[in-house]
Amino acid sequence: MTIKRAIVVGATSGIGCELAKAFSSHGYEVGVAGRRSSLLEKLSRELPTRTCAAVIDVRDTEAAIVSLEKLIADMDGVDIIVISAGTGHVNPSLDWMAEKDTIDTNVSGFAAVADAAMRHFLQKGSGHLAGISSVAGARGDGMAPAYNASKAFISNYLEGLRKKAVKEGLPITVTDIRPGFVDTAMMKSYADDVSAGPRPASPDRARSKGDGFFWVAPPEKAAAQIYEAIRRKKKRAYVTRRWAIAAWLLRTMPDSIYNRI
Ligand SMILES: NC(=O)c1ccc[n+]([C@@H]2O[C@H](COP(=O)([O-])OP(=O)(O)OC[C@H]3O[C@@H](n4cnc5c(N)ncnc54)[C@H](OP(=O)(O)O)[C@@H]3O)[C@@H](O)[C@H]2O)c1
Repeated sequence: MTIKRAIVVGATSGIGCELAKAFSSHGYEVGVAGRRSSLLEKLSRELPTRTCAAVIDVRDTEAAIVSLEKLIADMDGVDIIVISAGTGHVNPSLDWMAEKDTIDTNVSGFAAVADAAMRHFLQKGSGHLAGISSVAGARGDGMAPAYNASKAFISNYLEGLRKKAVKEGLPITVTDIRPGFVDTAMMKSYADDVSAGPRPASPDRARSKGDGFFWVAPPEKAAAQIYEAIRRKKKRAYVTRRWAIAAWLLRTMPDSIYNRI
């Protein structure tokens, strides 16, 4: 029987953690990465299939590339790499360190590990890269400019890598996952930040269920839909699916309305 192998970068909590569990429950050997080693060890103990772990901070791009390449080698190559690592800050005062942290993680860090993943698949001649973007990438936002822009970058970057794979004539799939609200630590942290500010303005900045936010998915449900989108080799997928409607509304909304919400 062929052994299936997948890596999740950003597997210590939230969507990535549930996705690692989903891969393992479907028989995959799983590579898990993130900064918090204790959570990586805990997850490795919990997963029913063989697991390899690597402490990776994607902001340290050169070291992250080396560590991801080592993790891939430790697993004797992989079929799927998912990049779920991400951060974001509600930043109405435009504090540069907050914006920089988002850009270092979601832009430089994402591109560094996405390229390393693609290099592995190009060398191997096949594979599947998935990145977690966001519905927030549909439009800019004044409360978290770097976050929304970074998610637009991720979607655009993935499209570029997909086009490269097509041009190379190789069976490499690239999937752009665009979640709406998912009930994770990131969402809770946004909730705390937003409650100090005037109002929520993008899907990822939710207070809590029933507090002006809607269609909030548990991370297990989000992970199940992401697993299914990957299994079906989708180019892009909204999670949950009805967020495609909100994304369309956001994209087509005139500035005169968008700037008021
Ligand atoms: N929750 C939502 O509503 C929502 C909506 C749309 C998109 N998303 C996206 O979904 C992804 C996962 O977020 P989540 O909601 O599951 O939040 P989360 O529970 O906070 O998970 C974030 C994950 O990213 C990892 N990470 C953060 N900075 C990192 C770094 N510098 N290097 C390596 N790993 C790093 C964290 O691991 P360590 O802290 O251990 O490094 C953690 O595993 C993010 O890209 C987020 O933007 C979330």
